[in-house]
Amino acid sequence: MSRIAYVNGRYVPFAHASVHIEDRGYQLADGVYEACEILDGSLVDARRHLERLSRSLDALRISAPLAPAALRFVLDETVRRNRVRDGLLYLQVTRGVARRDHGFPDKPVKPALVVTVRALDRKKIEATAVAGIAVITVPDDRWGRVDIKTTGLLPNVLARQAARDAGAKDAWFVDDHGLITEGASSNAWIVKDGVLLTRPSSNRILTGITMTVVKEIAAGLQMKVEERAFTPEEVRSASEAFLTSATQTVIPVVSIDGYNIGSGKPGPLAIRLREAFHRTAEIGPKIA
Ligand code: PDD
Repeated sequence: MSRIAYVNGRYVPFAHASVHIEDRGYQLADGVYEACEILDGSLVDARRHLERLSRSLDALRISAPLAPAALRFVLDETVRRNRVRDGLLYLQVTRGVARRDHGFPDKPVKPALVVTVRALDRKKIEATAVAGIAVITVPDDRWGRVDIKTTGLLPNVLARQAARDAGAKDAWFVDDHGLITEGASSNAWIVKDGVLLTRPSSNRILTGITMTVVKEIAAGLQMKVEERAFTPEEVRSASEAFLTSATQTVIPVVSIDGYNIGSGKPGPLAIRLREAFHRTAEIGPKIA
C-alpha cells in the first residue's frame, strides 16, 4: 500500500507531497512539531500531544491550523489511510508561506500543516530495550527555549550524529553547570538509592509526554521520584539509567561515555516502567 501524507488540506501520495520553497519552516525553522506513537492502530496520548502543540504554537504566536476536533480528525484519517498499526505520526505546523523576512509576515498568512505516518519495527525497538543502549555526553549549546517543540533541531542533529560517530546510540546534553539536561530526542532518568531522578520542567528541557506518564506510573508503583538535575558522574555511579520518548517509551541506558551503569545491563525499574507504560498511557480508539 502506498503512503499518503496530509499537506495543507489535502491527502496526497507521499512521493508527491511537497511544500512551497518559501515556507518559513523550510527557510527559518519557524515552526513546531509533535511526534506521537501509534500502537496497534491507535494513537497514544494524542490529547496530551495536541495540548503541548497548542502551547508551542501560542509561545511562537502561530495560529492553530485547524480547530482541535478537525485536527484530531486529520490525524486519525492520516493513520487510517496509511493502514499503519505500529508506528509514528509526525505533525508539523509552520508559520506559513511568505517572502523571506525575519519578522512575522505583514499580512497574516495561513499556517502550514503537514502530517505523515510511518511504520516502526516494534520487534527492533523491543530488541533495543532488551539490550539497552550506550549514550555519550555533549555540551548543551541549544537556545534558551527548548521547552517549545520547534523544528529548529540542529544541535540535536549534531548530537545524535556525534553519538553515532562514537559508536553510541544517543547523546545526552550537559549544560554550563555540568548538569544533564536531556537527550537529543528524549528525557533522561537515573535511579539512585532506589529513587528515580529526572530534571524538573523548565525552559532548559522539553517536558516529555512520556516523562509525564512515567511519573504517574512510578507513583502508582510506589516508586519514589525526585525532580532534580544530575551530573554525568552521578549517571556513572547510578544503579540504572533510562530515557523516555514517545517513539520508544522507556529505553534502558547501560553505559555513558564508555562507563558501564550499574551491572551494564537494563535495570529492573526501567524494565518495569517499560512494561507498565501502555497500561497507563491514554490509548485512543482503534483507527487502522
Ligand atoms: N522527541 N526531549 C526532546 C529534545 C525531544 O525531542 C523529545 C521527543 C523528548 C521526549 O518527549 P515525548 O516523551 O513527548 O516524546 C524530550 C520526539 C520523539 C522526536 O523528536 O521525534
